[in-house]
Amino acid sequence: MTKPIILTGDRPTGKLHLGHYVGSLKNRVILQNEGKYDMFVFLADQQALTDHAKESEIIKESIGNVALDYLSVGLDPTKSTIFIQSQIPELAELTMYYMNLVSLARLERNPTVKTEIAQKGFGESIPTGFLVYPISQAADITAFKANFVPVGNDQKPMIEQTREIARSFNHTYKCNVLVEPEGIYPENEAAGRLPGLDGNAKMSKSLGNGIFLSDDADTVRKKVMSMYTDPNHIRVEDPGQLEGNMVFHYLDIFGREEDAATIAEMKEHYQRGGLGDVKTKRYLLDILERELAPIRERRLEYAKDMGEVFNMLKKGSKHAQSVAAQTLSEVKAAMGINYF
Ligand code: TRP
Repeated sequence: MTKPIILTGDRPTGKLHLGHYVGSLKNRVILQNEGKYDMFVFLADQQALTDHAKESEIIKESIGNVALDYLSVGLDPTKSTIFIQSQIPELAELTMYYMNLVSLARLERNPTVKTEIAQKGFGESIPTGFLVYPISQAADITAFKANFVPVGNDQKPMIEQTREIARSFNHTYKCNVLVEPEGIYPENEAAGRLPGLDGNAKMSKSLGNGIFLSDDADTVRKKVMSMYTDPNHIRVEDPGQLEGNMVFHYLDIFGREEDAATIAEMKEHYQRGGLGDVKTKRYLLDILERELAPIRERRLEYAKDMGEVFNMLKKGSKHAQSVAAQTLSEVKAAMGINYF
């Protein structure tokens, strides 16, 4: 019996943070452990190179870090195939064929690409590889005939474009080789975009406002103690505001059902006055550590043998390549370029 296929991944351009965790990693681990899917998770190093071509050393370092992030949150190589994009040349070859089915105007309209172009300040010098990365992402997804792609909300336009490419390919070559995937997005809209510790709308490495999955306990404590709360809540007895208060925002996201009553009580107390920020932060720290401590422990265990981690990636890549090669041969047959 074949299971539905899941494909997902991240650009290795640094370490993963809590925003990645609640936005998609957590979802993936749940899906993996349901055991109902054949799951592929990969490090999109070629996509990372599209805007880090001259800093390839960052990518090399990040491969190890993100692999550890994956293993430490509970992605399990005995259940999922974990692999590296650049080790599967079939993906680049598929990209080549798909490029002929997508117009330049369509690429320029992709909202995520548009935002990124503005953010990165490419000006007139947008690398061609960057502009076409949604096509390469379509290759990543379709090479595995993925039915589902669990990702953050920012990836919706990529899934949409992948669906268009799959449809266009099947239509153009009168076949049914490619599968149109569906995105799986965070259930909780708020978790889909975790704000930074400083209250900025987005947690990000470059803004320096995040908690990394690899942070040690002391670093996490310091970061939580520095979180943005209510600047007008000066004395403990002052009434405090919940709106824009990152401690309460995080409590809403990371609190579990059994914490709901305590959190509701704290909110009331805070607004009434008499509840200090140090107390709310200590409570949040406990809630976060409940999640982070086991992740940290697993990381330390895996990090003892990086050779084994890379071995796992090698094995995963080998398996992934055999799957992608099968799709590529079907693609070439559909196009009629299987000459011999
Ligand atoms: N675009 C994703 C990111 O920015 C990474 C990625 C590349 C991806 N190819 C993918 C995600 C295929 C899901 C499926 O992190």
